[in-house]
Amino acid sequence: MQETSLDKVPSEDRVNTEERLVAPESQLGENYDHSLRPERLRDYIGQKEIKENLEVFIGAAKKRGHALDHVLLSGPPGLGKTTLANILAREMGVELRSTSGPVIERQGDLAAILTNLDSGTIMFVDEIHRMNRVVEEVLYGAMEDFTLDIIIGEGPGARTVKIDLPHFTLVGATTRAGLLSSPLRERFGIQFRLNFYEPEELKSIILRAASLLGIEIVEEASLELARRARGTPRIANRLLKRCRDFADMETSGIITQALVETSLSKMSIDLEGLDQMDCRILEALIVKFGGSPVGLNTLSAAVSEEKDTIEDVYEPYLLLKGFLQRTSRGRIATEKAYKHLGIEVQEQVQKKLF
Ligand code: ADE
Repeated sequence: MQETSLDKVPSEDRVNTEERLVAPESQLGENYDHSLRPERLRDYIGQKEIKENLEVFIGAAKKRGHALDHVLLSGPPGLGKTTLANILAREMGVELRSTSGPVIERQGDLAAILTNLDSGTIMFVDEIHRMNRVVEEVLYGAMEDFTLDIIIGEGPGARTVKIDLPHFTLVGATTRAGLLSSPLRERFGIQFRLNFYEPEELKSIILRAASLLGIEIVEEASLELARRARGTPRIANRLLKRCRDFADMETSGIITQALVETSLSKMSIDLEGLDQMDCRILEALIVKFGGSPVGLNTLSAAVSEEKDTIEDVYEPYLLLKGFLQRTSRGRIATEKAYKHLGIEVQEQVQKKLF
């Protein structure tokens, strides 16, 4: 097993390192909207199959008095990976410690975290695909047999000490399961990919959030918002709050279908829920590059958006909705994208691509 050196880290610093690297969910800052996130599995809407399976795995672990097996949650941002990690801790009745892949820079950082966990604790690692490979290798042993090998001292006098770790549960979240090394991926006994939500599910999420926030919204308006929220609860809740702003400032305070339509149009969100960047991407493919396949680097430069953001945030929904296709030669806009943007497909493109 890979060995870890903690010998250069003074003990006081180790404690500080651990506090910097992990935080109880309550310290995670204002973006974490506690008031809207369901705390129990029964209140979680959508992802039916994942919920049903989790109920069994949680129930079985509790029945045996064991920690839950390690869990890998993957899928586009905003679909509820962090929410599920919180729910897992709550349902198991254990503490949740949260950190993220890029924050754990050295093997010693990981050792500091793991040696400070209590038995059963859930360690949530967001963006686990961005964890350094050297750190990742330490994690293999920790996940598999709950031990860490640490080198004490340097040179010929150095010796290895095996440290037993508490039986913790690692919950990893990633927008890119494909970027995880297979040894790491294989060590997760439970793996789920979260899917985009159906409009009816998003509608229920919006109505739940509206009731929690004391927002008045009519039913058709909630469905209209749901249809334009890109299958994503985080976007649905954000749009709900912005519509409330328009309703409070410009009308009676009640969110109606007409208010949703005017508010979303003011925020440049179209009938399919596409925003300005989605349309810029499609327009670049069609107009700037004349419909020919485009590589990610070129597309990123053309629309001035990070490659990772295009791949993680924009593409999954454009692909799902059939506006974009990935071919071996690059990305292309589909006929549906041409129609949606009101651009005629040129004859030579039609012959070549569709
Ligand atoms: N808020 C955000 N995501 C949710 C979900 N899946 N169920 C209920 N409320 C939510």
